[in-house]
Amino acid sequence: MKRLIVMALLLSIAGAQVDYNSQIQTIFNDKCTSCHGGSGGLNLSSYDELMKGSNSGAVIKAGDASNSLLIQRIDGSVTPQMPQGGDAFSDSVISLIKKWINEGALEQVSVTVESQLPSHFEIVGNYPNPFNPHTRIVISTMTHVQGQASIVTSSGKSVYDFGPVSFKPGSNSLIWRGQNSRGNTLSSGIYFFILKHDDLVVTHRMILLK
Ligand code: HEC
Repeated sequence: MKRLIVMALLLSIAGAQVDYNSQIQTIFNDKCTSCHGGSGGLNLSSYDELMKGSNSGAVIKAGDASNSLLIQRIDGSVTPQMPQGGDAFSDSVISLIKKWINEGALEQVSVTVESQLPSHFEIVGNYPNPFNPHTRIVISTMTHVQGQASIVTSSGKSVYDFGPVSFKPGSNSLIWRGQNSRGNTLSSGIYFFILKHDDLVVTHRMILLK
């Protein structure tokens, strides 16, 4: 029974998450790459190019759709509205792209469900959140889990490495002091806790607020 609940939970997380290559890149290929296809400036032909941004900087702010220039251009809050010369996107398309950014703007959906499920684990949350100066990340597992844990910024830069971690069945926690690996305190912002175990990657969004 418990196993079924965890499986349902993992499936619902995976099902709900927006997949970059099949759901977002296809929109850009259809409506944007005719102009933003690599002849200088913003290039929307791949995830890596998109994340490089334009000559004036990043157009995606992971975790923060409203402050991402790409969203501001397609919803018309910054003009000229995109796609330039074409029909504006419907609310549902804009919501989909926003959802992908708010989920962390990752290239890969962060939970992979295999037909044979590996050890079940889940990031329950971090307490407190927002936090300052430290937070406790709670991970719940059903079996012994060994993996790699780290913290990345909203632009995907790795700032802190917990190294190899090992969890026993039940509730486990890790403390993060809002510092990088050199012990320097980081600035306010959105950070992602990433836990990798075999092919399974789980992320969790946290806010450091000073
Ligand atoms: C017909 C050509 C054309 C199409 C199609 C087009 N764009 Fe643009 N885009 C432009 C031009 C030209 C600019 C620069 C305009 C300006 O800022 O004055 C621009 C600028 C932008 C910028 C701002 C870059 C910066 O740093 O200022 C973003 C973001 C952007 N486009 C996103 C998109 C997206 C997303 C799509 C697809 C939905 C799209 N564009 C489709 C021509 C196009």
